Amino acid sequence: MRGIILAGGTGTRLDPVTRAVSKQLLPVYDKPMVYYPLSVLMQAGIRDILVISNPHHLDAYRRLLGTGADLGLRLEYAAQPEPRGLAEALLIGGEFVGDDQLALTLGDNVLVRPGLSALLREERRRLEGCTLFGCPVPDPRRFGVAELDASGQVVSLEEKPDRPRSNLAVVGLYLYDNEALARAAELKPSDRGELEITDLNRTFVESGTARLVPLGEEATWFDTGTHESLLEASVFVRGEERQGRPVGRVDDIAREMGYLPAAPVRTGG
Ligand code: G1P
Repeated sequence: MRGIILAGGTGTRLDPVTRAVSKQLLPVYDKPMVYYPLSVLMQAGIRDILVISNPHHLDAYRRLLGTGADLGLRLEYAAQPEPRGLAEALLIGGEFVGDDQLALTLGDNVLVRPGLSALLREERRRLEGCTLFGCPVPDPRRFGVAELDASGQVVSLEEKPDRPRSNLAVVGLYLYDNEALARAAELKPSDRGELEITDLNRTFVESGTARLVPLGEEATWFDTGTHESLLEASVFVRGEERQGRPVGRVDDIAREMGYLPAAPVRTGG
């Protein structure tokens, strides 16, 4: 499976902070924001990852992450010249993905859950169509919203609805089989001129191959695209780190996942 981190967009909701700096490089407590979605792909066992950003910011990502070799990864970079929607990532990354499966994550999502690595690897194994992840939120109108039937099947997906049919937000982490590339190529731009990820996902609902995995109470998820949520995410990460529960430490995860040799054990004296 190949990974894509979409770190484009204009970050208008964080203006003026994002006027000169890419949103996904802003700090969430003590690390650049992009470390958090990167750490999620790493926990899924994915080592080939494409970082997509706008052309002005791409060099900054290269400076930060390089080839990925320091983390036992193979990183590539591609430009999204205009913010034409999240689903455009599948067109830009088409060649990179080839005939493989794909995990797309949004560069501003912070997702933490005990056992996340095992969960993601299991979902990779059973992937057929598209797999979404859901989190209950108090303000679903900010997100893609999923409605499930009594058996847990997705019956509708709506992007930022005025009247949400549930409080289940769709997290910015999407697993796709290779079919998604062809489906993305068929998408028509929405009223705001963008290729909407929710439109792509809806095609899988229609073909009966969309699965939604509720992340449960033990998950913590932030879309850090607003000042409020950015601050909340920072406070959360600081709290976890102080409790001895590291979050988004890509070097540690690279070792835990066996991408790098284990750190030498320090002995006293
Ligand atoms: C995007 C998606 C939305 C999803 C959210 C998760 O919204 O369009 O469906 O729930 O990411 O972070 P955005 O934050 O780009 O407005």
